Amino acid sequence: MNTLDETFTLNTGATIPKIGFGTWQIPNGDDAYNSTALALKHGYRHIDTALVYGNEASVGQAIHDSGIARNKLFITTKLPAEIKDATKVFEAFETSMENLGLDYVDLYLVHAPWPWAERGADYKKENGEVWTQMEAIFQTGRAKAIGVSNFVVSDLEALFETAKVIPAVNQIRYFIGNTQDATVALSTEKGILVEAYSPLATGALLENVEIAAIAAKYNKSIAQISLRFVLQNGLLPLPKSTNEDRIKQNADLDFEISADDMNYLNSLEINL
Ligand code: A2P
Repeated sequence: MNTLDETFTLNTGATIPKIGFGTWQIPNGDDAYNSTALALKHGYRHIDTALVYGNEASVGQAIHDSGIARNKLFITTKLPAEIKDATKVFEAFETSMENLGLDYVDLYLVHAPWPWAERGADYKKENGEVWTQMEAIFQTGRAKAIGVSNFVVSDLEALFETAKVIPAVNQIRYFIGNTQDATVALSTEKGILVEAYSPLATGALLENVEIAAIAAKYNKSIAQISLRFVLQNGLLPLPKSTNEDRIKQNADLDFEISADDMNYLNSLEINL
């Protein structure tokens, strides 16, 4: 089966296409519109954006213009990391829905456990309150699933203390050499699907000689090995590209990395 047609099942019971098209750092306007349109043209049905990416409007326009039935698509967006005042959550959600021009999203994520300017700061209490609002959005049916992003073990454990709904997804920065094993293990144990953003380390893996050697063995590109690695570890990769050939290549993952080579790739330490 074409990997683009394969799905994981979320703890809500909904299915989610195994490869998502990431749109971080793709500027609003022609770039975001064209790359989203190309991804849809080449069979991607899962698109990942965020209010802070600033490109929801162009992503949404490409979705509309594709003519693809809404129920064949899986669309994710995110609550800005800066919003830790629970009274502001619904408003941000409405802004995203307006930008996207959608009636519902398939997944709505808390973008990070702390505002970006205060990375690592303790917002556990606020995250609990924000999560209650995320649960309220989930209850309205306008977000078919809710989840988190950039949550490590301590953030998840704090959330579990008050959460009524267990997150469906934890989206983390994940690539060969940066596999965040404890976070993945806890998420998986709790039935939370882990999504991998920056699966190519925003391009930094593309020059790696160790991965290049494996890629040559399989007659695949470094990008394809890096993305297949994510899938075989049971995670959902979110590759992004603005280039048509690379958009196609990143979804051409119907091959198998051997167990020995997976062990080797899992053991690699990559200093970026
Ligand atoms: P481009 O948009 O020109 O293709 P990540 O997903 O880890 O954030 O990495 C994204 C970066 O990797 C972008 O700079 C993108 O550039 C590049 N990229 C994406 N797919 C490929 C590929 N198959 N081969 C080479 N570079 C790629």
